[in-house]
Amino acid sequence: MIKKLFLIAVVALMTTPLFAQQDTIIPFISADKLPDLIKCLPAPPAFDSPEFSYDVIRYQWGKTQRLNPERAAIARRDAVWSYEALLAEFNVPFGLNMSPTETPEIWKLLTTSMYTTDPMRVAPKAFYHRLRPFEMYEEHLLSPETEAELSGEGSYPSGHTLRSWLAALILAEINPARADTLFARGWMYSESRVIEGAHWQSDVDASRVAASIGYAALQTSEAFRAQMAKAQKEFNTLTHKTMKKTLIVYFSATGTTKAAAQKLAQEFDADLYEITPEQAYTAADLDWRDKTSRSTIEMKDKTSRPAIKGRCANIADYDVVWIGFPIWWYTAPTIVNTFIEDHDLSGKVLNVFATSGGSGVEGSYNDLKKAYPQYTWGKCRLMN
Ligand SMILES: Cc1cc2nc3c(=O)[nH]c(=O)nc-3n(C[C@H](O)[C@H](O)[C@H](O)COP(=O)(O)O)c2cc1C
Repeated sequence: MIKKLFLIAVVALMTTPLFAQQDTIIPFISADKLPDLIKCLPAPPAFDSPEFSYDVIRYQWGKTQRLNPERAAIARRDAVWSYEALLAEFNVPFGLNMSPTETPEIWKLLTTSMYTTDPMRVAPKAFYHRLRPFEMYEEHLLSPETEAELSGEGSYPSGHTLRSWLAALILAEINPARADTLFARGWMYSESRVIEGAHWQSDVDASRVAASIGYAALQTSEAFRAQMAKAQKEFNTLTHKTMKKTLIVYFSATGTTKAAAQKLAQEFDADLYEITPEQAYTAADLDWRDKTSRSTIEMKDKTSRPAIKGRCANIADYDVVWIGFPIWWYTAPTIVNTFIEDHDLSGKVLNVFATSGGSGVEGSYNDLKKAYPQYTWGKCRLMN
């Protein structure tokens, strides 16, 4: 009973300044409804366990990392205990600058989520009261100015890791295209705690799991889900404004390239434009074994320019244009030349995609690049 009262008192002491400082935030879930990390996670490794030997090895490893000035500078930045400092580290991997004014909904989602799950670390820290590496070895932290604040607070699990891994999970949900780099930065952030000498490796490992436990708990909150929807909407609006506009132009005689174009349009959230021949190609026209078929004749005469229906009226709106076609006789059908010569494509990045019965796309790409050197040619992709 006394132990329980002591724990409650410690929890209250450790959370009060934080709550006072963030008094406008209403948590998505109250602290008493969150999973109990003392029950979810194993106890920190005993001194005579192989896990603790690993902790010691990692502490020594962390000290070698301090010799790398760039890595040490990152670890020092990662030591700053504030939502602002942490989220600033994720701006680049996320692909958008986050702030209360520029991205209010994303900011609210992240700060409220961290504020909601912050208390999860408090009880195990007080319960295990594990000494931090710098305390045990009586050495200095990489950021010695934080020593007084961290001494006696309990090492297990890591509060910085709980926040940063949770932030990575949430940001990856908002922007899945950047998940790889977000998690890589989240991983590095938590490793910074080992480099600091503020945490054992097992503290960090436990907190990555703790963050996923917190993340799962947040999913049960309707308020969290509603705020996530607002954040995703804000992200989409802002990135569409800054994103380059992409057009997928394609010619397809029998539908294969059309399907590839639709996939690309989804991938790049792009508009589609079909090159439609004035006179549609019949099966007989496409017979490549017939020396007198329309396609054979057109492809033999490199100057042929089969007529197309209409023009793409708003081509000027696009920064990136993908040009797609079926490979005919190892290159682009000459109707693609008709399209290119009918439009002003200067100032745009032109990418090429194609489908084929087996031929590669590089030859067709190089042919176009050679024929139209005045344009900027980007990448090419075979989409069989
Ligand atoms: C006239 C003609 C010539 C072709 N030449 C080639 C070729 O040189 N190499 C190749 O791999 N496939 C070749 N193919 C196959 C097409 O590139 C392939 O079937 C393509 O996916 C068809 O796309 P579509 O359905 O969008 O028209 C040729 C097809 C036709 C009709």
